Amino acid sequence: MRYFLMFKRGFILGLLALCFTTAGAQESPFGDLGRAPTAAEVETLDISIMPDGEGLPPGRGTAREGEPIYMTQCVMCHGPNLEGRRDYRVGRLAGGVGTIGTENQVKSFGSYNPVVTTLWDYTRRAMPRFNEGSLTNDEIYALSAYILYKNGIIGQNEVMNADSLPKVEMPNRNGFIPPALEDIPDIDARGCRNGRCR
Ligand code: HEC
Repeated sequence: MRYFLMFKRGFILGLLALCFTTAGAQESPFGDLGRAPTAAEVETLDISIMPDGEGLPPGRGTAREGEPIYMTQCVMCHGPNLEGRRDYRVGRLAGGVGTIGTENQVKSFGSYNPVVTTLWDYTRRAMPRFNEGSLTNDEIYALSAYILYKNGIIGQNEVMNADSLPKVEMPNRNGFIPPALEDIPDIDARGCRNGRCR
């Protein structure tokens, strides 16, 4: 996910560069189709939050403030205990911390996801489902705090903001271990480990 987000930002900037290059050269492979986006237009799309917190806007919130928002806007899909809903195919937001890598692992956002800022980025982009983009920055900080609190990762009154959120260490932070080359028996597949896939 972390690499995906990085890729995404690079992709948007790359697309912008491409547009300017082709506009300057007057030889767009797409003919007269479309136009180069303005910097302001790109700005509205370039909303990725990096793992180190780069891109997080001002704002603040605590778990205590997040709970009533969760109970009105998220509970119907994510459940009163953040346990998810099978009938909606919604996974857990909380629970199972410490079980990843054991025989009885329980995957939830809290137990599995290695990077905390994904929570903020994802919630802003995609939640609440069917009403995406409706949350204020303060609400997103408060909801993120509530989800972290319900996972036992932060306290109920700990303020989450652009400075404190990225400092939160997810329990599975170090659970994603790239395989050592000698652990990949198929020699041809080893290139993938170096970013050169077949
Ligand atoms: C209409 C149903 C619905 C509502 C309302 C809703 N969600 Fe979701 N949510 C989903 C679905 C579906 C997914 C994607 C499936 C999944 O990852 O479990 C999801 C995924 C998520 C994820 C990512 C989970 C992960 O493990 O990657 C977060 C975080 C999240 N929602 C937060 C919220 C918050 C906060 C609210 C309230 C503001 C909310 N959602 C409201 C349906 C909903």
